[in-house]
Amino acid sequence: MKNIAAIVLAAGRGTRMKSPLPKVLHPLLGRPMLHYPLRVLHTLGITRIITVIGHKAPLIEKSFDAAGIRELSFCLQKEQLGTGHAVMVATKKLKTFKGDILILSGDVPLIQSGTIKKFVNKHKSKPRVKDRPAISLLTIELDDPKGYGRVIRDAKGTVREIIEDCDLTPKLRSTKEINTGIYLLSADFLFKNLKKLSTNNAQGEYYLPDLVGLANKKGLKVDALKLKSAQAEEVMGINNRVELARAASHMRRELLDKLMLSGVTITDPATTYIDDGVKIGRDTLIHPNTYILGHTTIGAGSVIEEGVKITDSTLAAKVHIKSSSIIESSVVGTGSVVGPFARLRPDTVLDSDVKVGNYVEIKKSKIGRGSKASHLSYIGDSKIGKNVNIGAGVITCNYDGKKKHKTIIEDGAFIGSDSQLVAPVKIGRGAYIGSGSTISKNVAAGALSLTRPEQKTIKNWQKKKGK
Ligand code: UD1
Ligand code: CA
Repeated sequence: MKNIAAIVLAAGRGTRMKSPLPKVLHPLLGRPMLHYPLRVLHTLGITRIITVIGHKAPLIEKSFDAAGIRELSFCLQKEQLGTGHAVMVATKKLKTFKGDILILSGDVPLIQSGTIKKFVNKHKSKPRVKDRPAISLLTIELDDPKGYGRVIRDAKGTVREIIEDCDLTPKLRSTKEINTGIYLLSADFLFKNLKKLSTNNAQGEYYLPDLVGLANKKGLKVDALKLKSAQAEEVMGINNRVELARAASHMRRELLDKLMLSGVTITDPATTYIDDGVKIGRDTLIHPNTYILGHTTIGAGSVIEEGVKITDSTLAAKVHIKSSSIIESSVVGTGSVVGPFARLRPDTVLDSDVKVGNYVEIKKSKIGRGSKASHLSYIGDSKIGKNVNIGAGVITCNYDGKKKHKTIIEDGAFIGSDSQLVAPVKIGRGAYIGSGSTISKNVAAGALSLTRPEQKTIKNWQKKKGK
């Protein structure tokens, strides 16, 4: 979008959240609330963006740094003296800008780029700049307008002013049209009039919406795009945790719908929690009570059974994750089967066709193609080759109380059930470990190794004992 700069307001204390975390960092589907309006601007191709931060500003900056988003221009509002004051601070960075300024709120995260596009087009519908409004507002009528600034129109329907909820006279209280906190203003009007705002109101703050009344006093044009009531959720402001939950639930429904329309089967959307940005291939089947979070990708034709939680992981096509398994920062190769009740901890990499069965925990380990650990094992800091069989109850003893050590198991080795591999240790290609062994020395390729004492049998023991 040409000739548009944007200001995003995100400096407020968010008192009503009752939280040590700044309001705009509260997550919605795994991303901070503030991420969403910024993404809309990005989608619209608006590159000149000033984000006003104040309350716990370093925390906000850090969170966007951590997400690898660097091209944001933050601007500090040291004292939070109101939305008008926040914009005053931001305009210091836009002094030479000529054009229109779009103002979004960090706490109105559901707004869609298509709506903003319509809003901008309406504002610019007159070809000559001087025929355009000084301010355009985005408004909507709500059944329950409580808490929002109300749009006051005259008998002819012209917008006269905006009055905040706490400043309303009883007569105006029933006004249903509200200010969404999204504005488009000519930079010239904004720069000239911001300094005229006062704090003469119930909250003792500089109110940005007072610019509407100011424009009218000067005989300048104020325009409003009134949205249909079906769009109420899109423009909801989040001020407390009830609203946060409502917004999250709305977003979640939209995200799941999108996935289902793209060919993913979700048997119970009501109990399926998928973060924004998760990618899932076609014909994958997601059962109820599942959590697929963070930077996760799941390939096509996979099955995720009930009670599974997957975070920051990459799963290839045709994987099958059985009930109640937990997968965190791991990679699962094509055709692999995990669970039920398995846990893949960070840095686990399963190649294709690996089988990890019930009650198996794996951490920081690579498991080669076709290998199996079917029951009750702990595998940590290990490198396991292809077609290895790990018997039931095998433990890699990777920790000596001070340091972690590596276990290496080469292709085709067989580790008998209930064995312990005391790291550092290496089991050679095709070697065989007898069940119940404690292996603390390397075993050569092709060898059999076992530490089990020989079996002793006393014949007729019961009789001799004389019962
Ligand atoms: C604001 C509007 C109200 C509108 C509603 C829509 C004002 C005075 N009121 O009310 O008309 O109906 O949004 O959701 O603008 N902020 C700053 N610095 C400040 C104060 C606030 O950056 O000094 C930021 C906040 O972080 C927030 C946004 O501005 O992202 C709106 O502030 P908030 O206090 O939530 O305003 P509302 O009472 O919701
Ligand atoms: Ca708000």
